[in-house]
Amino acid sequence: MNNMNDIIEEIKSRNDIVDIISSYIQVKSAGLNYKALCPFHSEKTPSFSISTQKQMYKCFGCGEGGDVINFVMKMENIDFMEALEFLAQKSGVEINKGKISDESKENINKKQKLYQINLDAARYFFKSMSDLNNTGYKYLKNRGLDNKVIKYFGLGYSRNDWHDLNNYLLKKGYDQQNLIDAGLAIQTKNKKNYINRFRNRVMFPIFDHRGKVIAFGGRVLDESLPKYLNSSETILFNKRKNLYGLNFAKKNIKNDTLIIVEGYMDVISLFQYGIKNVVASLGTALTIEQAKLIKKYANKVIVAYDNDEAGVKATLKAVEILNGVSLSVKVLNLGKSKDPDEYIRTEGLDKFNISLKNAIPLIQFKINILKQKYNLNNDQDRLLFTKKVANTIKNIKSPIEVEYYVNKISKETDISIQAINSEIYGKYYKANKNQKEIKQQIEEIKIKKNGIEIAEKQIIHIFLNESKYRSDILMNLDIDDFLLKESKEILNYIIKSNELDIITIDKLKNLGISEEYIQDIYNINIDSNVNLNDIIKTLQKNSLKRKRDYLLKRQHELQQKKQNDKNIEASEVDRELLDIAMKIIRLEKEMKNIL
Ligand code: UTP
Ligand code: MN
Repeated sequence: MNNMNDIIEEIKSRNDIVDIISSYIQVKSAGLNYKALCPFHSEKTPSFSISTQKQMYKCFGCGEGGDVINFVMKMENIDFMEALEFLAQKSGVEINKGKISDESKENINKKQKLYQINLDAARYFFKSMSDLNNTGYKYLKNRGLDNKVIKYFGLGYSRNDWHDLNNYLLKKGYDQQNLIDAGLAIQTKNKKNYINRFRNRVMFPIFDHRGKVIAFGGRVLDESLPKYLNSSETILFNKRKNLYGLNFAKKNIKNDTLIIVEGYMDVISLFQYGIKNVVASLGTALTIEQAKLIKKYANKVIVAYDNDEAGVKATLKAVEILNGVSLSVKVLNLGKSKDPDEYIRTEGLDKFNISLKNAIPLIQFKINILKQKYNLNNDQDRLLFTKKVANTIKNIKSPIEVEYYVNKISKETDISIQAINSEIYGKYYKANKNQKEIKQQIEEIKIKKNGIEIAEKQIIHIFLNESKYRSDILMNLDIDDFLLKESKEILNYIIKSNELDIITIDKLKNLGISEEYIQDIYNINIDSNVNLNDIIKTLQKNSLKRKRDYLLKRQHELQQKKQNDKNIEASEVDRELLDIAMKIIRLEKEMKNIL
């Protein structure tokens, strides 16, 4: 290890700031950032913000801020070296009294060396292409890339030579073993010689999310195979844990969304057209590690894989994995183009942007695939198509989503809703719930509403009497999550006045809170079985439910409007309906996540 900065960088990269801070205080996700009540000064509403992208924290209340090391220094009241040691230990690097253990040192040293080798190699490949007549350069130009983007992505060329890079790097002072470990050199079969791994290919440096070169992908200039050769797995490069282009994309997140494509060329080509929130999964099936990596930077994903059978299969798998880490996922419709690269070249940026806006949910994607297989003008085909679609719809968990698609398919095929529903639910499907069932439902709603009011009053009781729980409550609930106007007024008052003491009955009366409500609050039963967490969850759940019910109402209105008013723009209404359906599904997922 030649440099203290390297140690610091290494330790910072191993300790995600959100992970570390959330081991001390409760943090809440707020878009791409996280929010919390500041641990360094007393406050009621969170003004402490953590940026995952910058790996920094900042409190807008007291001005405190810094990186993960500063945070630990302040929190543990220790000096810089101690904080570094503390974090090193947490992440499996051993340092003691300011010194890194020999083993860890060797490890970090080796990594630093491989980073340097990769960077030198990237520069060498780039330089090898400086001649305008160079075949690699001509190939990239032919693919439509301009000089600016070639330079930005550091593209280069590996000469048709067995030794040039290897010898160049040896001359620079690296050992042969280093070059093998970096995945750039290979030993010949007879073990007598060392040769370049990459020959006569255009070279794509692969960066990690910090922008360090960790590997290469090399493409042949013709139709020979393998089309792409990648660096072998090294201590720097684990294909499963990396996303090509993330170092650029993370600075260009738009609408909380990342677009995921298959190939290097897709990322670069879209970038050249100005679409920069794109990463590639490098041709492998998307892994959970990659999905989690995406989730660090965005909450929504648009999958834009190749338009062939393999791509469709990969899409179906990817969507499942992305959903698994609670990302909201849509699929891009590429029309007749074979991949995003071709699509943007033939159709242009405007059309690409429209397609992004109209990206479809998985079910619609599946339905579209089926549609291509059947001729909907033919009766026989239409029936088969409907049966297949019903089979797909069967797997949807949300009844609202089911209803949306049943309606849609019914219109498209002219097959009645009733018939499609029987196909989905079997012959026991009942079109209408009977009166008794409806009555029972209303009764249940009434009981629930009562329960919510009790939970709400219990929480206000705790809130008023035990100030130590106030921050817990405020972190997890918004004023909107409360139902009764008195509860809202009390919360509003406390947040605004920064009141730390117990709130007396007189104070409540001064606020104009009704006698009846005050009585309820003070007489409410809070026995040992009542758990603050449970009540908070009840309120959270109920609040999500109210939001959902509001959307259901809106959905109903729109459907009515569509039926009654022949003049309205149907596709616009459809889009809003779909949007509502997606929102409802998200709310329902959130509800399920509150255990
Ligand atoms: P594609 O074959 O779709 O490549 O594979 P592409 O990026 O569209 O390339 P062009 O446009 O034909 O030049 C998608 C990705 O799969 C990986 C690469 O990362 C590639 O970008 N791949 C593909 C390999 O690693 N090896 C291969 O032989 C093929
Ligand atoms: Mn492709």
